[in-house]
Amino acid sequence: MLPRTLQALFAVPLLALSGCMPEAEPVVAAPREQDPGPRVRLRLTGHLEGHLEPCGCASGQVGGMARRTFRSLQDRGSYDFLIEGGDLTTGGTPLDELKLYTILNVLDDQRARYDAVGLGPGDLALDPDLLAGFVESFPQLPFVCADLVPTDAEMPWPFRAFVDLEEGTAKARVTGLATRTPEPTGGLTPRFELLTPQAAWTRAMEGVAPDSFRVLLHHGSSASAREAASLDPRPDLIVSIQAEHAEPPRDPEFLDGGVPMVQPGVRGRFLLDVTLARMDGAPRITQYAPIPLEGSRTRKGALEDPDVRALVLAHRHEVQADGTRERMAELSPTANGASYVGNARCAICHPEAQAVWEKTRHARAWATLEEAAVGERYGWPVPHYPDCVRCHTVGYGQTTGFVNPEKTPGLRDVGCESCHGAGSQHAANPIDNRLGSIGAASCLVCHDFEQSPDFDYAEHWKQIEHK
Ligand code: HEC
Ligand code: HEC
Ligand code: HEC
Ligand code: HEC
Repeated sequence: MLPRTLQALFAVPLLALSGCMPEAEPVVAAPREQDPGPRVRLRLTGHLEGHLEPCGCASGQVGGMARRTFRSLQDRGSYDFLIEGGDLTTGGTPLDELKLYTILNVLDDQRARYDAVGLGPGDLALDPDLLAGFVESFPQLPFVCADLVPTDAEMPWPFRAFVDLEEGTAKARVTGLATRTPEPTGGLTPRFELLTPQAAWTRAMEGVAPDSFRVLLHHGSSASAREAASLDPRPDLIVSIQAEHAEPPRDPEFLDGGVPMVQPGVRGRFLLDVTLARMDGAPRITQYAPIPLEGSRTRKGALEDPDVRALVLAHRHEVQADGTRERMAELSPTANGASYVGNARCAICHPEAQAVWEKTRHARAWATLEEAAVGERYGWPVPHYPDCVRCHTVGYGQTTGFVNPEKTPGLRDVGCESCHGAGSQHAANPIDNRLGSIGAASCLVCHDFEQSPDFDYAEHWKQIEHK
């Protein structure tokens, strides 16, 4: 690993070339120099869930790898260690495989390389052999996990129980608990043993230097993370990585014995700066700052690292070339066991509903993706990208659902069956096969807090009402 000062030198010309001058930013409070004793300044993230950048369905979305790197380079010197908690991807899909490669490249960027990465159950949704292969090809990126031990001697295992970090007087030992074993793949017997939290912690903290901060990256519910406060020796910081909070809470939480717990939120939307000190032998948080990764309001891409943008763009094209959209179509059965038939069929008996639908934005949802592909705002093959296709078509990912515009032209857009469910049985015999009522919950699969921050069922329903 390059010494940090050298890394800094390295980064300067790149940044200068890109012309990215920082604009007005939320200022990170400088750590209080007068704090006595050792301290360590951590910059935390976790539960990225494969969100390389915001989808752009609504304005003002936060997050993205390019902004993350930009910000970490800009703030260099204000933190000692970059730590990513894990759950980089959570679906274990062919798209996640391609995403993971891109994400690891960003975390391994020598200008702002991560000092520790946790391993979560989401990461383990990928085939463990494949995951291990990926991790092995980034040997300078330390992955930590203390509670999973492979029982299969053949299994490659590039994960470490802990990593010791040292930068001047700042020292930390970082470990992680996955708290769950991955599902065995291909009908094999389980290939992992799951240690109890205390057994894993004992193993990971063996011989830890007394002046090193003991940091635990904990996967599992925040309730189970709270229980980790009673581990022996006592953790100095618990980083709870789960999807319960979209963003970091305003303040850290203090558990039994004064152990601090923080939550970095989901989807890489925020960075979380935490400075730990020790006073009278107990851990103290002397600085805590959630930093939203906002975009520039004045200049497109101004707060984003151009190299990372280029990596993400390459990924978008790779997904198209790989045919990932088609590979991910029709993987699971429909919820009600029927097949998708498309709007034209429903319109035969429900012409009024069809007439209303045609005037709604749902009927333009596919066109939106096609326009995005050639427009200024995106300019990459959006209609080929599974994450976008999912909410802008009918039944993508399920049998008989959307595959591509050539094979399933009638399933483009958000059609009747996107909300009412697959309709073959109902269309064949509407009286015996009722579709039943669906209500507001049917909207929220697509209108979530990022795509539709102002979603209000009563208001939105009025705009598409078709009884
Ligand atoms: C399969 C995903 C999906 C579901 C389910 C869904 N929507 Fe949408 N909705 C979209 C998309 C995508 C758009 C944007 C289409 C465009 O402009 O290209 C949208 C747009 C809208 C708009 C227009 C918003 C505006 O600002 O003009 C309204 C209103 C709306 N939806 C209401 C609803 C309601 C009410 C429900 C539930 C009964 C619902 N939607 C369910 C995907 C969905
Ligand atoms: C979870 C579902 C979901 C996903 C995933 C999704 N969209 Fe959307 N998209 C929506 C909804 C819902 C709206 C309508 C938002 C509103 O107006 O309330 C929308 C609106 C849009 C709009 C119209 C915005 C405008 O104001 O003109 C664009 C463009 C768009 N999406 C592009 C994309 C792209 C590109 C992707 C993939 C990177 C994507 N969407 C992924 C649900 C989704
Ligand atoms: C052959 C004619 C026919 C076709 C095709 C048809 N429907 Fe229906 N639909 C009906 C009838 C008849 C009813 C029941 C009306 C009643 O008894 O109140 C109905 C009722 C419904 C209801 C009310 C809930 C329920 O199940 O009773 C919904 C929603 C609905 N249809 C949606 C659809 C959708 C979506 C499609 C396309 C997949 C579709 N229909 C295709 C004839 C049809
Ligand atoms: C964006 C989601 C959405 C889309 C798209 C949509 N619907 Fe609906 N539809 C609803 C909701 C919500 C209701 C209200 C009743 C309920 O909650 O089940 C409803 C009601 C209905 C009803 C009346 C049911 C009753 O109980 O009286 C029919 C019939 C119907 N839809 C047919 C269609 C047809 C046909 C299409 C396509 C042309 C369509 N819908 C498109 C969400 C949708």
